[in-house]
Amino acid sequence: MYSTDLRTDAEKRRAQKADAKRSVEDAAFLDAFQARIDAGDIIEAKDIMPEGYRKTLVRQISQHAHSEIVGMLPEGNWVTRAPTLRRKLILLAKIQDEAGHGLYLYSAAETLGRSRDDMVADLLSGKAKYSTIFTYPTPTWADMGTIGWLVDGAAITNQIPLCRCSFGPYARAMVRVCKEESFHQRQGYEIVTTLAQGTPEQKQMAQESLDRIWWPSLMMFGPPDGASAHSSQNMKWKIKRHSNDELRQRFIDTTVPQAEFLGLKIPDPDLKWNEERGRYDFGDIDWSEMWAVIKGGGICGKARIRARKAAHKEGEWVRAAAAAYAQKRNSEKAA
Ligand code: 3HC
Repeated sequence: MYSTDLRTDAEKRRAQKADAKRSVEDAAFLDAFQARIDAGDIIEAKDIMPEGYRKTLVRQISQHAHSEIVGMLPEGNWVTRAPTLRRKLILLAKIQDEAGHGLYLYSAAETLGRSRDDMVADLLSGKAKYSTIFTYPTPTWADMGTIGWLVDGAAITNQIPLCRCSFGPYARAMVRVCKEESFHQRQGYEIVTTLAQGTPEQKQMAQESLDRIWWPSLMMFGPPDGASAHSSQNMKWKIKRHSNDELRQRFIDTTVPQAEFLGLKIPDPDLKWNEERGRYDFGDIDWSEMWAVIKGGGICGKARIRARKAAHKEGEWVRAAAAAYAQKRNSEKAA
């Protein structure tokens, strides 16, 4: 279900020729595709699709995959310093889950014709984006709790609707990812609960972490709707089901009562329940910070890419061995 492109080379060449023939995407072709989307059809990897739809999916799914992989780094920072063996085991399992998410997502993107090698090369060269949240540092143990609670919580809010994305391989990958993210969110909330109910110093550590991570977690949902370049087409194609602002608001509405339960204060003086809207009003987000991070200004952005480059280099012999083994098996089969 999450496999890479299983077509033979001959099949791929035939598909490329067919794509080239279709290079003129006339109105009838685009209307017919939109009619499939409107009827709720699920698009599969080998289906005919507009080039824009394919490119949008490769962009979003590969950025998502990169986020899962780079997202292992801020938490990896705490594996050797987790306060107990139990915490260490849980943290390790969570980080491994994130690696798995990255792999399903690269595989889903590969079904659209972009190789994983190319996508990884884009990440390592700094060409590809990954979520802004992972450029922030994790200086305290409380950050492991806050990341699970807020970052995985935001990821779930964004990704549950992606389980109904019009592109089948992405939607199906999201089902398992969301189940695991939901466990991650709960383990994070449990860490923060323990700290919030602990000594005054522990509670302060939880509050300080919330103060730092709150606003960056709201930025995970992307720019406001008016500045979101891709949202409207994305929603028309039912890749995205809700706008960035709608999902951000849902996240805030769910999270504020959780903070109140813990006796922690969301660092937003303008946050208040709006009886009429039945939702929380909240203060202005510093969009200049989000755009600066997206453009490469994140505190740990350079260190994250350095770490990925080192891991890629260290893994070179594993990739070479796997390729040699696959080649040997193929020639044995052919013989
Ligand atoms: N970080 C980095 N880049 C961001 C961003 C963010 N928080 N928010 C928006 N952007 C980028 C977009 O990718 C786009 O860049 P591009 O045109 O160069 O490709 C540009 O800013 C404009 O934003 P749009 O709103 O027009 O873009 P989208 O319609 O694609 O919406 C999105 C952005 C909501 C992030 C959407 O792509 C999405 O839902 N992606 C899938 C989920 C995802 O990638 N999540 C990453 C979170 S981390 C995670 O899941 C790991 C888990 O373990 C916690």
